[in-house]
Amino acid sequence: VPVTVYHDQHEASRAVAHRIAALIKVKQAKGEKTVLGLATGATPVGVYAELARLHREEGLSFRDVITFNLDEYYPMQPTAPQSYVRFMDENLFNHIDIDKANVNIPDGTLPLDQIPAFCLEYERKIEALGGLDLQVLGIGRTGHIGFNEPGSAPNSGTRLVTLDDLTRRDASRDFGGKENVPTKAITMGIGTIFKAREIVLMAWNGKKASIVRKAVEGEISGEVPATYLQLSDNVEFVLDQDAAMDLT
Ligand code: F6R
Repeated sequence: VPVTVYHDQHEASRAVAHRIAALIKVKQAKGEKTVLGLATGATPVGVYAELARLHREEGLSFRDVITFNLDEYYPMQPTAPQSYVRFMDENLFNHIDIDKANVNIPDGTLPLDQIPAFCLEYERKIEALGGLDLQVLGIGRTGHIGFNEPGSAPNSGTRLVTLDDLTRRDASRDFGGKENVPTKAITMGIGTIFKAREIVLMAWNGKKASIVRKAVEGEISGEVPATYLQLSDNVEFVLDQDAAMDLT
């Protein structure tokens, strides 16, 4: 698996943002739309800040960009402080010229019985646009990508999942206690992610070092869903020095 280690997360984030910007511009020049898969959480914040700066100061336009977020908690109201709708607005969409009609985030407000149809439609919509050009990923300490927790199937699609206890513990600060963290989420599947033409998994910080080592060097297994990325020809791991420190 190709791994690029940067001195720090700021340098790494700028590099990923510039790669995304270059992709958007190449497609714009051909009159094509760019379809991006996006992640939330602490990891991509610097990438989104740099994309917002490129828009503000260097005229990068997102008019021709369509986005699909990986996941959303369930249940979740879009106006709640922890919602990924709100996260994306605050960290990216409010600072760029994207058409909000081109933004797709799993809907945390649906009644349970409407979720399967919603998930199929999410997949169909991505496919109808020609698939994801580039998928941005973080990695959870369980080895999850999106919210594909241990046990996820390699061909899984968008679906309702149960969050791992460690994932809920890691989210407890945002929710003021683990008991307030939803037990479920809607997430793109491993199979959905795999179909993206380019996949960039980012990880910063020594807290991610041991799971990054398992993801990059460990045996491919559903126990660490990120290990499935070893089977992709289109993946790059982008790390800071601390997240890379356990790699041999
Ligand atoms: C978020 C997502 C998750 C996070 C992962 C790491 O949309 O899909 O897989 O990328 O939990 O979270 P942070 O970046 O907060 O360490």
